[in-house]
Amino acid sequence: MNVPRAGAALNVVMLGPPGAGKGTQAERFARTHGLPKISTGDMLREAVHAHTPLGCVARETMDRGELVGDDVMIGIVGERLGRPDTTGGFVLDGFPRTVPQATALDGMVQGRGPLVVVDIVVPEDVLLRRLAARRICGSCGVNAAIEWTMSCAACGGSLVHRTDDGNGVVRERLKVYHRQTKPIVEFYSGRPTFRAIDGNQPPDVVTGAMDAAIREASLVPAPVKGVVL
Ligand code: AP5
Repeated sequence: MNVPRAGAALNVVMLGPPGAGKGTQAERFARTHGLPKISTGDMLREAVHAHTPLGCVARETMDRGELVGDDVMIGIVGERLGRPDTTGGFVLDGFPRTVPQATALDGMVQGRGPLVVVDIVVPEDVLLRRLAARRICGSCGVNAAIEWTMSCAACGGSLVHRTDDGNGVVRERLKVYHRQTKPIVEFYSGRPTFRAIDGNQPPDVVTGAMDAAIREASLVPAPVKGVVL
């Protein structure tokens, strides 16, 4: 699919509960459209893996299924969106996750074109099944494809459970989602560039629905000056 609105930045935000498929779809969309995928979960896991000061702060919070502090996350994303590869747009996966983060993001993208916000909707029983079944590569961290049995096709690493995919932690992540992240669906849903899509379909069907939704939403006329979309 070719992106409409030639010359305009395509700024995409993926919303959805844990296991909705944000990472899977963000990766596909970013690759197809030549945009940087910015996943705050991946950035934090890399920091944990590398034992950086951020990783040390984030590790226990993530393993409890709670959210890392807004100030830390806003700082990380602000710095990332300041890099030149984001001027043509970006795909955000996992940020914003709270109303203060969403408000801060509006400030960060002021003057850079509208945010197209896609909410992936999946029933809770399906989320629980997906997260219980998920394996990732213990070395490079990518989600394992179904056909990989013992090791990662990309780097040969062993497949492991994500440390926050245990049953108790997943239930906590879902509670946190409803309490702290669901309110940002309300925050965005009145905007003309918001779309909800059914994520309880095969991945390729979700990809097609997401492409169509973003294509349609990004054709929305530019906002009146001073109004954030
Ligand atoms: P993060 O990594 O963002 O985790 P999450 O939001 O809980 O999302 P997941 O990665 O579990 O799911 P997903 O929706 O990306 O689905 P995926 O494509 O992987 O965050 C982790 C932690 O970091 C947070 O808990 C928090 O502590 C911290 N954090 C991150 N960002 C933060 C922020 N902004 N503020 C504060 N703290 C932050 O798919 C899941 C599985 O389902 C995979 O196995 C996949 O293959 C499969 N699947 C995907 N699509 C389909 C489909 N259509 N059909 C069948 N299976 C599918």
